[in-house]
Amino acid sequence: TILILDFGSQYSHLITRRVREFGVYCEMLPCTQRIKELHFRPKGIILSGSPYSVYDEDAPRVDPDVFTLGVPVLGICYGLQEITWNHGGSVVACSHREYGHAMLSVIKHADHPVVDRLFDGFDGDIEVWMSHGDQLSKLPTNFRIIGRTQTAPYAAIAHEEKLLFGIQFHPEVTHTPRGKEIIGNFVKTICECKTDWTMACYKLGVGDPFIESFIDKEIERIRQIVGKDGEVVGAVSGGVDSTVAAKLMKEAIGDRFHAILVDNGVMRLNECTTVNSYLHSHLKINLRVVDASDKFLSRLKGVTDPEKKRKIIGNTFIEVFEEEAARIDKETRKSGRKSIEYLLQGTLYPDVIESVSFKGPSAVIKTHHNVGGLLQDMKLKLIEPLRELFKDEVRRLGKVLSLPDDLIYRHPFPGPGIAIRILGEVTPEQVAIARAADHIYIEEIKKAGLYREIAQAYAALLPVKAVGVMGDKRTYEQVIALRAVETTDFMTADWYDFPHTILKKISSRIINEVKGVNRVVYDISSKPPATIEWY
Ligand code: XMP
Repeated sequence: TILILDFGSQYSHLITRRVREFGVYCEMLPCTQRIKELHFRPKGIILSGSPYSVYDEDAPRVDPDVFTLGVPVLGICYGLQEITWNHGGSVVACSHREYGHAMLSVIKHADHPVVDRLFDGFDGDIEVWMSHGDQLSKLPTNFRIIGRTQTAPYAAIAHEEKLLFGIQFHPEVTHTPRGKEIIGNFVKTICECKTDWTMACYKLGVGDPFIESFIDKEIERIRQIVGKDGEVVGAVSGGVDSTVAAKLMKEAIGDRFHAILVDNGVMRLNECTTVNSYLHSHLKINLRVVDASDKFLSRLKGVTDPEKKRKIIGNTFIEVFEEEAARIDKETRKSGRKSIEYLLQGTLYPDVIESVSFKGPSAVIKTHHNVGGLLQDMKLKLIEPLRELFKDEVRRLGKVLSLPDDLIYRHPFPGPGIAIRILGEVTPEQVAIARAADHIYIEEIKKAGLYREIAQAYAALLPVKAVGVMGDKRTYEQVIALRAVETTDFMTADWYDFPHTILKKISSRIINEVKGVNRVVYDISSKPPATIEWY
């Protein structure tokens, strides 16, 4: 077992995924975990990154026993700084914070092959992803430099006898293209872990036998839990996760699964009608659509703060969902059936790991909207058929369940919808503008055959007015910002490099067709330091 100590980085759960992909079992625990209280002896320890600085007074501190246990330790970003702090080195704030791509020059030590093991198989420069505001200013005693970048002279260090390794970059994100090999070197070569552990979802197979057997087993499991006459309720959004979960439920228990689609007034253009007709008419899911758009929009009146918008939408969603669930429950009992006992949720594996992580120091970047609060109020028991799966596996599941590619490969859409893509007040007029522009944008991306290449694209409506000229008239209208990113895990992302002819077409269509817009700009910021959503 590899022990991952989580200091609250946005990427901690990706470390877990990378280690498990090698067939090595690992557990992620909060960084405050005492080593003496562990119920297992790890073969190696990985210290994650963190939003903190090691010199902060309230910085999370690792149990010093980590360094005396006699097992290899790999520190990533903050983890490296924590190793340094504990071994007499120094860490300072960088004069230039470093986010994004960097080239790491590997430094080999022919006479000390042990320290070379982390970069086994590498020669010369490696492309790495940096995200840090601090860096080492003094090497701790008895450490050797095994890599440097132009701005970080101690970007990778190692201690030969103690088998301590520290790297400033993030090998766990896909933007470090060979990061997986580095983690592999640590767990396989340095920690000598066996690679025989398998979680069901890593078994890939031609024709997808794993997914097929997963479906059979999951349907059986749901039937056993729910019993012959149990009733289940669940929200659907039109996204791949909730649709796949709902389809599994339908296969397992038919109409005893009650799906609810809440129209919050800030969904995409025609979204509610499309989802309704697909789930209801095509998948034959027992679906209720609740049009609560007036309620949502009236509560959003005058609100511009993104976190407030998220809270209002989240709370209103719970309220509307509960009311409808209660109504369904009443009707079900009236017709002589059982009360609703279970709530379906499309929780994925990354959410499961995240919920065990060290929440204390983790910086809340954005409160993501979920329906977790429902449980306490409704006393429903949870069913989460996707809780072992990652997004790509849910897509494979969707494929085997014969869902159309359009749905399976749909870009993710945030729960608070267009409300967080309208950067000012959310009014029906602003929703109409944002929707129309977004619709044209996505339509043109699809026409150009680029939709699948892009992980997420949307149009944001800026709360500024710009001067323009249309015909012979001066205009004073709003600005649309187009965003498109490439990413696989949504934790790091690069802006998508569109052919200019396509941007030209999109811009001219939006300006010509969407009333109230006279300017279109394209967002060329990577994540980090920007996020995918503007808000
Ligand atoms: P950021 O903007 O944090 O987004 O880089 C990462 C991913 O999360 C989505 N996102 C949300 N999803 N509720 C959601 O359900 C939210 O409040 C929310 N905010 C961001 C975002 O669209 C991207 O896929």
